[in-house]
Amino acid sequence: MAKNEKGNSDIVPVSEQTGTGVVVPDPFTDPGLPPHRPRITDIDPKAAKRAERIVYTLFYFSIAASVFAVYAYMFFPIEPDNITSVRLNTLWLGLGIAFSLLAIGVAAIHWGKALMSDKEGIDYRHPVRGTEETRARAVEIFKEADQESGFSRRTLIRNGLIGSLIAFPLPAIAIFRSLAPMDEDPNNLLKHTMWDTGIRLTRDPTGTPIKASDVTIGSAYQVIPEGLIDLPEHEMLNEKAKAAVLLVRLEKEDLTWSSAERESWSYEGIVAYSKICTHVGCPVALYEQETHNLLCPCHQSQFDIANECAVIFGPAARPLPQLPITVDDEGYLIAQSDFTEPVGPSFWERSR
Ligand code: FES
Repeated sequence: MAKNEKGNSDIVPVSEQTGTGVVVPDPFTDPGLPPHRPRITDIDPKAAKRAERIVYTLFYFSIAASVFAVYAYMFFPIEPDNITSVRLNTLWLGLGIAFSLLAIGVAAIHWGKALMSDKEGIDYRHPVRGTEETRARAVEIFKEADQESGFSRRTLIRNGLIGSLIAFPLPAIAIFRSLAPMDEDPNNLLKHTMWDTGIRLTRDPTGTPIKASDVTIGSAYQVIPEGLIDLPEHEMLNEKAKAAVLLVRLEKEDLTWSSAERESWSYEGIVAYSKICTHVGCPVALYEQETHNLLCPCHQSQFDIANECAVIFGPAARPLPQLPITVDDEGYLIAQSDFTEPVGPSFWERSR
């Protein structure tokens, strides 16, 4: 039972209470800690030695794996137009880094579990706010530091420090910029895809054109632009990552449109939407025929095809961009133009 400072019980007997409320004692009693059970490494020096050996062996293994990763990066270089070189480079570099991190993780866990002290202890919660004395001392320390460093007094140094800290990340921006081709505006790379007026919609991966009459109600096609498969492999992969499209046919009356213009981007109930999720760019490849919903498997964003691919669930912030389509003289599905907005995750220049 809780006692006050004078050693009396805080709980007033019912007979002495003036109101009607009854204060009941806490029904739970503190079970305390179970008796400590020593581990094998606490009582057997040989086991402790063995555990120690495992831990440092894993750390040395991690060092070897890191060195191997650097070696793999240099000795399996990526060659242009050679996808095998990309795979080899990625495989060996990835394995080196993975084993290096894994070994550190396993060693740390084993060290903690087998060798570090595992005595149970209790830390009582205490108020986070310091005492008035501590707070006053902290302010004093700050003032002293300010005085001694001359931070407020020496404005040129202070402003120089702030400026240099702001400028410090700039090289990183320049390095990231250099990852994009120098001869092309990176904005254009993100804003435009291979689709253009008159380009036929073709099946992925065969590249055979699709006739509107082949697309039956409820069917869905993975689509790429005509000519994509003829590009060099690395260029083809880059273009495909932006231009992949999902083609679906619904009953015309199931489709709702916000404007006559949007409606003219479809053909007899056939609609084409970017397959690149507007959240972080995974392929939106799961089509549920009954509900007309598209599902992105990465973070479960769902898009309603019947309603201009509006987001109906999940973290995606905007609908999937629609590819305006029509048919040519031979009845093959063609693009009316490129997408009218950038595909994939939003980026800062998107609205410009
Ligand atoms: S990438 Fe599609 S929901 Fe996250």
